[in-house]
Amino acid sequence: MINIETLKLKFKKIFKTNPELIFSCPSRINLIGEHTDYNGGFVLPCAISKRAYALVSKRNDQKICLASNEISNVVECELTNIKNEPLHDWANYPLGIFATLIMKGYNLDFGLNILYSSEIPLGSGLSSSAAILCLTGFALSNIYDLDLSYQQIADIAHLSETEFNGLKCGIMDEYAIALGNKNMAILLNCDKRSFDYIPVSFKPYLLIVIVSNVKRELLKSPYNQRVIECNRALELLKPAFKISSLCELSINDLNLVNKILKDDILKRRVKHVVSENNRVKLFVKALKENNILLVSSLLNESQISLKDDYEVTGQYLDYLHDISLASGAIAERMTGAGFGGSAIALVKEENYEIFKERVISKYNQKFGFKPDIFIADICDSFEIIKD
Ligand code: GLA
Repeated sequence: MINIETLKLKFKKIFKTNPELIFSCPSRINLIGEHTDYNGGFVLPCAISKRAYALVSKRNDQKICLASNEISNVVECELTNIKNEPLHDWANYPLGIFATLIMKGYNLDFGLNILYSSEIPLGSGLSSSAAILCLTGFALSNIYDLDLSYQQIADIAHLSETEFNGLKCGIMDEYAIALGNKNMAILLNCDKRSFDYIPVSFKPYLLIVIVSNVKRELLKSPYNQRVIECNRALELLKPAFKISSLCELSINDLNLVNKILKDDILKRRVKHVVSENNRVKLFVKALKENNILLVSSLLNESQISLKDDYEVTGQYLDYLHDISLASGAIAERMTGAGFGGSAIALVKEENYEIFKERVISKYNQKFGFKPDIFIADICDSFEIIKD
């Protein structure tokens, strides 16, 4: 748990002044709809209450001074000369928001000191990077009186991640964080950027998050490679189907897709994307009808598709899936990009403690380190923390 008073003291120590405002934002899990967002499909994420914080004070000059409670260096940069540099490391995320707002014509006319702190384990698949991006957007909108809506903040954060930071990701993470709503999932149409809230209850099951503690940086993972593969498949399928994204295809189109595409890898990528997009729609219906049996089989099917057809799970997530089902979960799937990161599971309330103990022990026996397991608390989006 983050202690705000300790952070205030740290801020004072680093910047020799008190913070004027404190902002926070959640992280996210995705219930279903993986790797569909950059293919124009549906996703169903929720904001969860592992939060990131930013303490901010205004400066009299044009400098941006960024510090992190978890990483020791302070990064300094002139407002008039913001560049993505390897030396800036994590600070390239917040710097991207300053650069994107300036590029969009917003007037940022004085410098800032910002201290970040995060309960979101870095590289854990819970969107620690999107959280820093969105949090910075929210903080800057308040400090510079930009009056951005939460959706605009998500759009700015997404633009910054794709253009300034170079990850060709979809919009899911930024929208999930910025539009978070207590006990609601966000059914997001990534093509139209429109959304609906869907009440979430898996009673009598709990929604569990399992952090594999296998960290990965998406920029160094095959993530962008998957985007390229989908785009290549789309180009080859366009003449026959007259589509502008893969998620316009239906399950019935897959026979013809398989005739057109010669490359087995591309066939499997398209099969995952189209079937996963369909699973989101079935999942929402099942959730509304409280059909937990169908909900759980869709979650498990999603995991298998991500493993066999999209190939983004890897040995740690595969093992977590197997031991979770063997330890009392009725469903388990990776959440987020994969390649390590986190998973979600459905476990009966009375079995939770024993489930947790078994999964931690089996995983530790195999890999020599433990996963973190907690109950998902689906929460609201941004907050300004008052004294
Ligand atoms: C990452 C990306 C998202 C999305 C997921 C996979 O979290 O940032 O845009 O593509 O992976 O569903």
